Amino acid sequence: MSDDNLLESFLFDEQAHSPSAEFAEQANVQDARIYQDASADSLSYWAKEAEQLHWFKKWDSVLDWKPPFAKWFVGGKLNVAYNCIDRHLETSRKNKAAIIFEGEPGDSRVITYQDLYNEVTKFANVLKSLGVQKGDRVSFYMPMIPELAIAMLACTRIGAVHSVVFGGFAPEALVGRVNDAQAKVIVTSDGGYRRGKVLPIKDNVDEALKANDSVEKVVVVKRTGSDIKMVSGRDLWYHELMEKAEVGGPAEPMSAEDMLFILYTSGTTGKPKGVVHSTGGYLTGVATTHRNIFDLKEDDVYWCTADIGWITGHSYILYGPLANGATTVMFEGTPDYPEQDRFWAVIEKYKVTILYTAPTAIRAFMKWGEEWPAKRNLASLRLLGSVGEPINPEAWQWYHKHIGGKRCPIVDTWWQTETGQILISPLPGITATKPGSATLPIPGIEVDVVDAAGFPMPTGQSGFLIIKQPWPAMLSTVFNDPQRYVDQYWSRFEGVYFAGDGAKKDKDGYIWILGRVDDVLNISGHRIGTMEVESALVDHPAVAEAAVIGKAHEIKGQAASAFVTLKDNVTYDDKLIKELKAHVAKKIGAIARPDDIFFTAELPKTRSGKIMRRLLRDVAEGRAVGDTSTLANPDVVTELKDKYED
Ligand code: PRX
Repeated sequence: MSDDNLLESFLFDEQAHSPSAEFAEQANVQDARIYQDASADSLSYWAKEAEQLHWFKKWDSVLDWKPPFAKWFVGGKLNVAYNCIDRHLETSRKNKAAIIFEGEPGDSRVITYQDLYNEVTKFANVLKSLGVQKGDRVSFYMPMIPELAIAMLACTRIGAVHSVVFGGFAPEALVGRVNDAQAKVIVTSDGGYRRGKVLPIKDNVDEALKANDSVEKVVVVKRTGSDIKMVSGRDLWYHELMEKAEVGGPAEPMSAEDMLFILYTSGTTGKPKGVVHSTGGYLTGVATTHRNIFDLKEDDVYWCTADIGWITGHSYILYGPLANGATTVMFEGTPDYPEQDRFWAVIEKYKVTILYTAPTAIRAFMKWGEEWPAKRNLASLRLLGSVGEPINPEAWQWYHKHIGGKRCPIVDTWWQTETGQILISPLPGITATKPGSATLPIPGIEVDVVDAAGFPMPTGQSGFLIIKQPWPAMLSTVFNDPQRYVDQYWSRFEGVYFAGDGAKKDKDGYIWILGRVDDVLNISGHRIGTMEVESALVDHPAVAEAAVIGKAHEIKGQAASAFVTLKDNVTYDDKLIKELKAHVAKKIGAIARPDDIFFTAELPKTRSGKIMRRLLRDVAEGRAVGDTSTLANPDVVTELKDKYED
């Protein structure tokens, strides 16, 4: 978000939206003293929340904090699948829908908690029969189908560690993650549906595994019936394994600090980080926030539209909702297929009561027009959520009016892959919301906005967002690279967590997130490192050097723009532009494809050789170019500007 947009956000201050009396009276959290109580004794607060889970053995101490390594609920034993399934079977939730699945072609499946138990225990037994043991890694590369959820839960049941790779990543990106995790098994499918076409999921796995030596078995779910190659001795059909598998079996008692999963995310280097989440703290963090922030009630039909390949799907499609015994909708498709009212059709079909989606989707809906939601009955909705990037006030207002019918509170939730759980968000029965602000840290969390030296910024001035104390679902380390964990998150400011976001605090203490301050792009709410895109470009034989920046984009929030210098004797034309864009998509995935490619004889650099990205951003966004006095080659920018100015 640019400063101009932010200024506009502040103007909306006057229009703070207080929760309606009707909503406030029925809210799960009604008493604002929760903030004071939690801040007076945050460990007791989190311990009380943890007590809502089922523990095989209670913890000895709530937190062991040896900065920057935190262990939550030390000595405690629990199992995530047991908490998400078994314990509900002894209640009226036994035959309640746990997962409602809506496939892209319109097929539908309802999986009750009892069904989920049957399927998950069977697949847990399958995994064991394949030699998967506690602590082993299992990678996933799947469309959004129930088997993904079932197999992830099966991992947690036996204490195996899952590592889900977003199905939109290219084979090279996939294999990098599988190799880093040293996965023993991959769970995948014969294909997936995307806007009526079939994605070659299994072919990508085959391609990826050419550069891997850890994977012993590939389990393939039949989704599309595509004609695929099954490698004898390595590849096994999911349905055949499940036919023979038995229902039941124990849920492994895991230590609270045992590794639950790895999820790779982009950082400031070319190599994604394996963010590690552990068992007890993570489940406490996601269950609490899901209950309090989404105001979950027993009969809610809750829908988070994210993909399980990202943290939002892990925490708020799967673990938070299922730990709370909720009904969670899982959707395979896209918002505009077969028509631009698909989301609204799904809400109407299942009478969804809580919708959690991303600003980029909302901006696309705005563009498509309010007639699409108007055609459908959205009266079941009672709460809306937003995640992934700053929501611009216009999008907030549109969401509020056209989707929420002006009656639904909106929770704008700030968090990250690393934080595991929401950390900044309104509590919908208490907090007055301001469009564009994620409002306040939730109870038990302390954040601040500081300057480069770590001192608090005055009200209204932008600085770096920090988190001052450990929280239950925080990452425990970077897989196989604890030093990177220390350097990346805990070294910028001594003893506090550096989020990598810029922010401002207003006079009411409300936080306004300004976006990343590091070399990480946020394209349609997805994180991509500029270095990853640069490496993909430089990998092309025509390219000598590349610099990638994020450019403001009306729908995606940000788009990648690349500045490229070519090798001697290479000339550029439109064909090369297409080829370079395709090359990035092939190396990383379509989400990283640059929108623009600018060719330049030289990149603007400081005398010490650092690329001046700020100037490139000015050129890409057509702004007056800022100060060039520190450049070693100031003419480059003028040339670039002349060349690319319309
Ligand atoms: O810049 C922030 C932005 O998304 C980043 C985290 O990305 P990722 O790890 O992929 O997780 C996305 C989903 C939790 C943050 O550093 N971000 C996330 N939520 C918000 C946000 N920016 C502004 N407002 C939000 N609500």
